[in-house]
Amino acid sequence: MRIILFTGKGGVGKTSCSASTALRCAEMGHRTLVMSTDPAHSLADSLDTTLASEPREVRPGLYAMEVDPKAQIEKDIGYSMQFITEWMVSQGGINDILAQEMMAGEGLIGAASLGLIQEFHRKGEFDVLVLDTAPTGQTLQLLSMPDVMGIYAKKFLRRGRVLAKVGRPTVGLFTSAPIPEDEFFDEMERANERLQATRRLLSDPKTTTIRLVVNLEKMVIKETERAFTYLNLFNYPVESIVVNRALPPEVQDPYFRQWKETQQGYLEEVKSAFYPLPIRQVPMFNREVVGLDALSRMARAVYGEDDPSRVFYEGKPFEVTSRDGHHLLSLHIPFVQKKDLELLTAGDELVIRAGPYQRLFPLPYALLGLPLDGAEFKEEEKRLYVRFKKNAGGEKKR
Ligand SMILES: Nc1ncnc2c1ncn2[C@@H]1O[C@H](COP(=O)(O)OP(=O)(O)O)[C@@H](O)[C@H]1O
Ligand SMILES: [Mg+2]
Repeated sequence: MRIILFTGKGGVGKTSCSASTALRCAEMGHRTLVMSTDPAHSLADSLDTTLASEPREVRPGLYAMEVDPKAQIEKDIGYSMQFITEWMVSQGGINDILAQEMMAGEGLIGAASLGLIQEFHRKGEFDVLVLDTAPTGQTLQLLSMPDVMGIYAKKFLRRGRVLAKVGRPTVGLFTSAPIPEDEFFDEMERANERLQATRRLLSDPKTTTIRLVVNLEKMVIKETERAFTYLNLFNYPVESIVVNRALPPEVQDPYFRQWKETQQGYLEEVKSAFYPLPIRQVPMFNREVVGLDALSRMARAVYGEDDPSRVFYEGKPFEVTSRDGHHLLSLHIPFVQKKDLELLTAGDELVIRAGPYQRLFPLPYALLGLPLDGAEFKEEEKRLYVRFKKNAGGEKKR
């Protein structure tokens, strides 16, 4: 099963891209499920139909659903959310973090969705699973959840089991929440294993393709560049960029002249910021994209005759490694003249200039504020290697 995940800033066209991609996959004969994991579901509106928390066939070969976190968690874990959260909060300390993580509306839908992804992969009923996710920040949180949970789960479950044993005879003295049975911990452990399995699926380019949707606007591009940095850093395979709502050549109205010039400038920025990812452009249509006909038209604009479930780029646009008191950032950039190369850090960005080429690279948290310590551009690889000095004493002060 191929997983195609769309993310991007709010309102850029993630749902439209997801639905049209899924539709096109189905038209090409792939059994396809499109699943919304955005708490503010709009997939049903986009497909112009009604959806439930189980797959529903929208047209031959195309299934769609919107995740209902509470129902799903209860189904997965077998206990009511209230029971789980009350119990977690009653434990205090580190469990509180986990409880909060799970109770937060977004965390909940995230956990439910991650569980479902793994389930659909295991069952193998679908050839393609398209994920219509929440805006970037929430999706990054979702994708980091298995890592966070993995760290806490072991501690939490071990401590929980001990507490449950010790606490059972004195229930009511220290806590109002019921102390759960061993079975509960087994379920929690299984839930964590499912989460880890999903993490592996989503970071494997053989299974997963992440497509970022942008509009040609400053704030949208900035937020997406940052998401791109983090996704890469956590080894999630970002495969291409969809530039949505570009003003098409037919728009000749003088009112839009300035808009078109600005968009042209931003398009160049997108090309360099996400180099070497393929970029697909979708025009601003003359009406909103609602219903299967409009989605089919959008799919043609995005993919032409290509099969959307194909992988159009595989590789790592950048990597950060650490050794001998240095962090080494290696970054794929187009051909530049070595002698022109100029590097500096400004705020939380690395500025790379070479003649007309300029790229602002949002630095990962671990590299913020660290002094630059040399760089090298290897022409044969088209990779720039930038060294950062680790702070003396090892740990960075925050
Ligand atoms: N290329 C486009 N041309 C015209 N309208 C579009 C286009 N892409 C998306 N829209 C419209 O913009 C709105 C937001 O799109 P949506 O896909 O729901 O964004 P997101 O899921 O990122 O919030 C919807 O009303 C949709 O129909
Ligand atoms: Mg949406």
